[in-house]
Formats: sequence, C-alpha cells, structure tokens
Amino acid sequence: MKEIENADAILCLLSDQMDRSVLSRAKKLKAVGTYSVGMDHIDLDYCKKNKIEVVNTPGVLTRATAELTLALLFAAARRLPEGEKICRKNRFAGWAPDFLLGQELKGRRALIVGKGRIGREVAELFKAVGLRVDFVTRSDSRQNLEKKLSKAQVLSFHIPGSKENHHWLDSKKIDLLPPDAIVLNTARGNIIDEAALSKALSEKRIFAAGLDVFENEPDIPKSLRELPNVVLLPHLGSATVETRRNMAVHLVQGVLEVLHGKS
Ligand code: GLV
Repeated sequence: MKEIENADAILCLLSDQMDRSVLSRAKKLKAVGTYSVGMDHIDLDYCKKNKIEVVNTPGVLTRATAELTLALLFAAARRLPEGEKICRKNRFAGWAPDFLLGQELKGRRALIVGKGRIGREVAELFKAVGLRVDFVTRSDSRQNLEKKLSKAQVLSFHIPGSKENHHWLDSKKIDLLPPDAIVLNTARGNIIDEAALSKALSEKRIFAAGLDVFENEPDIPKSLRELPNVVLLPHLGSATVETRRNMAVHLVQGVLEVLHGKS
C-alpha cells in the first residue's frame, strides 16, 4: 500500500486494522475516517499524539442498530431460527401444545449496558414492547451491579469494544444471570467471553443469546454455531439502505471539513 505514504486522509472500514504500523507510514496524514461508529480498530492514542483527526459516523446509525437489537430479541425469545429451520427442512409435524415454546416479553426486566445514543434508543424500543428497563452505570457499586445482573432477563450491550470492556461479560457475571436470561450483543464481540457464553448456553444455564458481532470476525466459533439457542447474524447492525447512505455522506463531509475547513 504505497499510496498511503502521500495520503492526507485515509477512509477505512471497521475491518481494517489502523494500527501504528500502518498509520506511521502516512507522514502527511491529517484525518482518518472510518465508515463505522466504532473506533476500536484505530490506534486513537497515536492519532491524538500526531494531531490526526478521527472521523466516525455517530448518530446516523443509532436507529438501525437499535431496531436490529429488537429483532434479535424477538428472534431469541420466540426461537424464530429454530422454527424457520424446521420449516425449511420440511420437518413441521403439526401444531402441538408444547412445541418450541418461547418467552413473552411484556413485563420482563431488561438491563442495558451502555447509556449512549444506541443504548438509550434501545431502551425506548424495549419500553414500547413492555419491558422494564434499567441501565448499568459507572457509579454502580459491585454489589449493585451484581443485584442488577441477577434480575436481568434481557441483557443488552451498547458499549465500545475498548480494552477496558474486554470480556465485560465473563463466566462470573454469566453465573449471576437468571435462568431465563437472554443476552444480546450488537456492539463488539470482544465484550463477551464467547467460550463462557457458549458453555452457559449449552448447559441451558441461561435461555438464549442473540449475537450480531464476534470477537474474531469474520470467524464465528463452532461452539456457538452448533447451539440451537443462539441467534447469529453477520454484523448487520447498521445494514439498512438509508443508514449506509447517511453514513457515507456523514463520513465524507467530516473528512472534507478536516482537510478544507467547514464550507
Ligand atoms: C458498526 O459496528 C459500527 O461500529 O458502525
């Protein structure tokens, strides 16, 4: 990638690792623009130190991501992929009283991790469905957090995939969740210890999970792929025609502003 050496700006995707070894080759760099809200693939310390502006796409993908979170919730609670698979394999043997029973959502307690734009939008959608919503906050004591987790029938992640959030959901916290818990992640894969989650799901210690993101994308661990009680999606949070268009406009405008100033 020789072109990088003369670049004033780099436009990248969330799957491009913008680490020091790449960025330091661009001696004239003024801006890094990422076609994503997440910036965990960019060495932000390096950019700050070298006065390189980082442009991302906050705001424009809030609704699309929140709607996908709700879709995952319905799919996981009502076991939609299991039902779909039965139909496609032509194995529907007829209606039965105890066939593929799921969970009704109204009145359930949801705990949202992350009170930014997406977390707050998800809260509104969850409330519209009748869920009782609470947030994890920075001021929660350990005891308070444990209490919240023990009541979380829906646990939904909307925090960045930063180092400090790595494996936020580990086996200890999973053990605190109630048996009917549904874990949702439309943020970043590394927030959840996937091995611990697979184990809990396979032992039916929690009810289900809905995952749109994975720690080592595009790889999805076999242990998750083989489980019936997890809904898996290929990182579709912002994947609507409207949102992807708005992200492109926002990103290009932002980078042009860094290079040429506001018009
Ligand atoms: C998607 O995951 C994004 O960060 O935009």
